[in-house]
Amino acid sequence: MFALKNSLVFFLVITSILHAQKSKEYGFLEDNKEFWGHQNKEFFPMVDYLVKKENKAIHFRFPSKRAQNEDANVYLFNRIPKDNPRYKTFALALRLMQEREVKTFVETGTARLGDKNFLGDGGSTIIFADWASQNNAEAYSVDIDLNALGNARAALGPLGAYMELIHSDSIDFLQTFNCPIDFLYLDSYDFDVNDPNPSQQHHLKEIIAAYPYLTEDSIVMIDDCDLPHGGKGTLVIEYLLDRGWEVIAEGYQVILVHKSSY
Ligand SMILES: C[S@@+](CC[C@H](N)C(=O)[O-])C[C@H]1O[C@@H](n2cnc3c(N)ncnc32)[C@H](O)[C@@H]1O
Repeated sequence: MFALKNSLVFFLVITSILHAQKSKEYGFLEDNKEFWGHQNKEFFPMVDYLVKKENKAIHFRFPSKRAQNEDANVYLFNRIPKDNPRYKTFALALRLMQEREVKTFVETGTARLGDKNFLGDGGSTIIFADWASQNNAEAYSVDIDLNALGNARAALGPLGAYMELIHSDSIDFLQTFNCPIDFLYLDSYDFDVNDPNPSQQHHLKEIIAAYPYLTEDSIVMIDDCDLPHGGKGTLVIEYLLDRGWEVIAEGYQVILVHKSSY
């Protein structure tokens, strides 16, 4: 009887240890398939986490079936490979755009080499023009350099009809935008690791100029963040966190949404 009781206790201890370990598993969604493992959770953007509860997968930040079912990654095909540091955040941004039915997209910093530098710069202008063409959205890309705009125009071809290219300083442009911005992508003034301040200050001024046009459902993404001193995003992120926004994905690009929007 004593031996039976001991084995029962032993069994219960082992199963609860196994259960605890299982609940520490992390998962992520890709191509609508679940992948599970014990990888370091920092590896996945926060919104892609899945946790297991009573053996069911819970996608704990953005449970929208619709967003998961849309294959937003089609816009990255042949442009941004899966092992590129921007892949997961671009994919997530596109999914959120779908989910939140973005109608107005604004980016600062145009794809200056057109479609020739997806790997280095991101080629956002092409990717988001493609998305806008399929989603009845208005898209604007502002750049201070006419050559950058010319290269983007040439690469866009017919997609140019869905992306308005504006020649201006980004801060001046944003100050007078005067219309709600559903998605704001900040990627202008180049970041210099030896002199981080000019770029960080410029991006801070961009968010201050754009802020009156953001709504609680807007999405903000910043490029070139996973760099010394926090790259382009440091001051922008600080500014938004102070106003009730939250970082929902953190990698080479950072994505923020307002806390009250989910
Ligand atoms: C890194 S590139 C943009 C890359 C692009 N978003 C992409 O994904 O390929 C930065 C661009 O910002 C532009 N830029 C720099 N300072 C600017 C300013 N004050 N206003 C607007 N554009 C600016 C540069 O001319 C350059 O084309």
